[in-house]
Amino acid sequence: MIHDALSQVQADLDRLLPILEPNLTIALRGGEADRVGEAMRYSLQAGGKRVRPVLCMLASEAVEATAEKARACALALEYIHTYSLIHDDLPAMDDDDLRRGKPTCHVAFGEGQAILAGDGLLTEAFQVLAGDITLAPDQRIDAVQVLAEAAGWRGMVGGQSLDLEGEALTRSGGSYDLDHLKRIHRLKTGALLRASLELGAIAGGATFKQRANLRDAGSALGLAFQIQDDILDATSTAEKMGKRVGKDEDKGKITYPLLLGLEGARQALTEATERANALLQALPNPRSLMAWAQYLAERTA
Ligand code: IPE
Ligand code: IPE
Ligand code: MG
Ligand code: MG
Ligand code: MG
Repeated sequence: MIHDALSQVQADLDRLLPILEPNLTIALRGGEADRVGEAMRYSLQAGGKRVRPVLCMLASEAVEATAEKARACALALEYIHTYSLIHDDLPAMDDDDLRRGKPTCHVAFGEGQAILAGDGLLTEAFQVLAGDITLAPDQRIDAVQVLAEAAGWRGMVGGQSLDLEGEALTRSGGSYDLDHLKRIHRLKTGALLRASLELGAIAGGATFKQRANLRDAGSALGLAFQIQDDILDATSTAEKMGKRVGKDEDKGKITYPLLLGLEGARQALTEATERANALLQALPNPRSLMAWAQYLAERTA
């Protein structure tokens, strides 16, 4: 990795994580139902790269607003993402026992509490957005709408459904092509990455054109992110990833390495990253987002 990109990413994390981390669990303490609260806090605090909230805050900065302005959006994104991981790991879905280096939520708390922890985080995301008084009411409604579309059946939930159907398809020897695969990735992962940059645009008061650029760049970054996730599943280790690897092949998931081979997958990753960078370049302050695009394409965890 080019040294400059990595030091930019580290500098951004040093600046931005203090805005996020102390606020991540504040709203999730002291309720009457503490078991589910504990399960939500457990999964949030297990770690995670915080890619979506950081990209959201950087998108706000890319249009010359502050990262703080995007704080509620960033929290909401990490809540939705963490919920999606808790449910993704359930026995009825990918059936995983390790996440963010720790036992998965259902292993630690039981399936029922894990389902509820996911539900709790999903709804909390909209609570934090709707209640954020640093944003104007029309910005809050805009953000709620964008996040709902990205998280729901037109986005992540829809993609997870296609992903499950894909397993059944490969098991029965059915056929699929690159368009099919792109659709799965665009929905299951791309939608929330796209929303991460678009929420940053909304919070930062972006122009129409800047917002479209950020949204499209987020889409390309989201595809790149899932391609790299597929590549790492086929090539990395559980120690590095904090989650099981080699599962995609076992389960018969439709992935980039399966369809295009590792070299083909790497080529597609490079193309998607270049597409993102070409769009980002047009923004007033794109330096950090472009460094992150490079880091995400070359990450090893
Ligand atoms: C994992 O996301 C799930 C995918 C969409 C590929 P991340 O790789 O961002 O997971 P954390 O947040 O760092 O644990
Ligand atoms: C994750 O895809 C997509 C969502 C959680 C929405 P994966 O199933 O590939 O994610 P990992 O590899 O378990 O993190
Ligand atoms: Mg999955
Ligand atoms: Mg999974
Ligand atoms: Mg994966």
